Amino acid sequence: ALLLGPLAVDAAHEGKGIGSALMRAAIGEATRRGHGAILLVGDAPYYERFGFFADKTQHLMMPGPFERGRFLALELKSGWLEGAAGMLVAAGRRLSA
Ligand SMILES: CC(C)(COP(=O)(O)OP(=O)(O)OC[C@H]1O[C@@H](n2cnc3c(N)ncnc32)[C@H](O)[C@@H]1OP(=O)(O)O)[C@@H](O)C(=O)NCCC(=O)NCCS
Repeated sequence: ALLLGPLAVDAAHEGKGIGSALMRAAIGEATRRGHGAILLVGDAPYYERFGFFADKTQHLMMPGPFERGRFLALELKSGWLEGAAGMLVAAGRRLSA
């Protein structure tokens, strides 16, 4: 799974669809590369429109404090996070650009 963020759009250009375009591009690229899921911490009312929900992370923990209702995930492969539990750890490898 990938951890996505931070996502920010210049306040002068908010509401023009840039954030949505960036999210769609990231989700599309992650799918194309064969990843199983994307996790992020953010505002659920914004990210739910892209399919991110907190129920997918209910048994996962992040190192350090986090708000459970803002810890969201999208499965790119159906069932990828089923049974996933415990602390997130880095995979320890870099992917080529
Ligand atoms: C959140 C953010 C990335 C959205 O980027 P954007 O280019 O303005 O988004 P879009 O134009 O694609 O989408 C705008 C829609 O998202 C909604 N939206 C924006 N921020 C939102 C939030 N925090 N919660 C719920 N909805 C939000 C807008 O009301 C608008 O809704 P509409 O389509 O019904 O009119 C941008 O507002 C931002 O940088 N905010 C500050 C940093 C931040 O909060 N980052 C992400 C959360 S961790």
